[in-house]
Amino acid sequence: MRVELMLNGSRRALEVEPGEMLAFALRREGLFGVKIGCGEGDCGACTVLLDGEPVNSCLVLAARADGHAVTTIEGLGTVHEPHPIQRAFAEEGAVQCGYCIPGSILSTSALLASNPHPSDQEILGALDGNLCRCTGYVKKLVAIRRVVEEADHER
Ligand code: FES
Ligand code: FES
Repeated sequence: MRVELMLNGSRRALEVEPGEMLAFALRREGLFGVKIGCGEGDCGACTVLLDGEPVNSCLVLAARADGHAVTTIEGLGTVHEPHPIQRAFAEEGAVQCGYCIPGSILSTSALLASNPHPSDQEILGALDGNLCRCTGYVKKLVAIRRVVEEADHER
């Protein structure tokens, strides 16, 4: 079946199987920043934004994206032009093996879009569904605080 969506800011049409999950359809498009961890909605490695909201794409049918906007980490920034959240994560040492990072950054992006001045509890709450087996939670918190401060300086 054909699914038409806005994918990372571009209008796209994907051919997907009726029961196919969004994570697998996106990876087939070469968007390998969509990681597969548990495949059961527990780890958040597969987090993408669906109309700006974080979802576990391993639990969302690809067909559900029809007519909607999907953002993966590839839509946020690049190696040469990183998004401020990506840069802060890298520079604050929040990236260890990196497997959880795309999902964590997308969850952070959604948080800051709706709440530019989150408390530490709100930051931790937003990352609650993004498990990090390298346990890099404190450095992520430092990195996100830095993004908030830098955004304030630019205002
Ligand atoms: S792979 Fe989707 S939540 Fe773990
Ligand atoms: S950096 Fe390794 S799982 Fe989070």
